[in-house]
Amino acid sequence: MTANKETETKIFNPTTNEQEFLIRKCILDDIDEVIEVNERELPEDYPFFFYKSILDNFPECFLVAQNKLGKIVAYIMWRVEKAPSINSLKYINKAHLVSIAVSESYRRRGIATILLSNSMKAIKKYKIHEYVLEVRVSNYTAIRLYEKLDYKIENIKKNYYRDGENAYFMTLAV
Ligand SMILES: CC(C)(COP(=O)(O)OP(=O)(O)OC[C@H]1O[C@@H](n2cnc3c(N)ncnc32)[C@H](O)[C@@H]1OP(=O)(O)O)[C@@H](O)C(=O)NCCC(=O)NCCS
Repeated sequence: MTANKETETKIFNPTTNEQEFLIRKCILDDIDEVIEVNERELPEDYPFFFYKSILDNFPECFLVAQNKLGKIVAYIMWRVEKAPSINSLKYINKAHLVSIAVSESYRRRGIATILLSNSMKAIKKYKIHEYVLEVRVSNYTAIRLYEKLDYKIENIKKNYYRDGENAYFMTLAV
């Protein structure tokens, strides 16, 4: 099991030096609040059992951010998939970002950056070769976030979303 020190981070207010947020692993009791954040911030919704199955299978890289009242204000979840390598016929493990969202009033404070970097470290235990994700071509904010972490656009997936919008497929080698 991944040590909590890899996934836990405290974020302090630079002016008051008080702890404002705690990034930590998600637990079953958090899922209802994670769903609230997801339904408020993203058009792609999932049923409870979907979150639970991600938590059951990949608990080290399902992280949440809670504020000082203990309220969940952000989350990230990944899954590991076997996919053919570009260079050979071998199947390799890829870390696929399932979803990330930060509640609107808590954005631009570095929460998503910490969620991504902590979970990307934690998911390495699955011997992954690559991180992959899809993002709406109109989601400038998220594209900037991923580019800041060195993800590159590999191609466009046409009509990827239910409403017909295209996705950028972005990747980063481990
Ligand atoms: C995308 C999202 C997760 C970013 O969360 P966040 O906690 O505000 O991100 P951070 O504070 O860590 O910002 C990291 C970088 O992202 C980019 N970024 C974040 N918000 C931005 C904005 N409004 N405009 C431009 N760039 C932005 C910047 O490069 C920023 O680095 P900087 O602050 O040093 O300039 C958040 O906006 C969100 O939840 N959006 C709705 C859900 C969503 O789109 N999820 C992604 C689906 S693929």
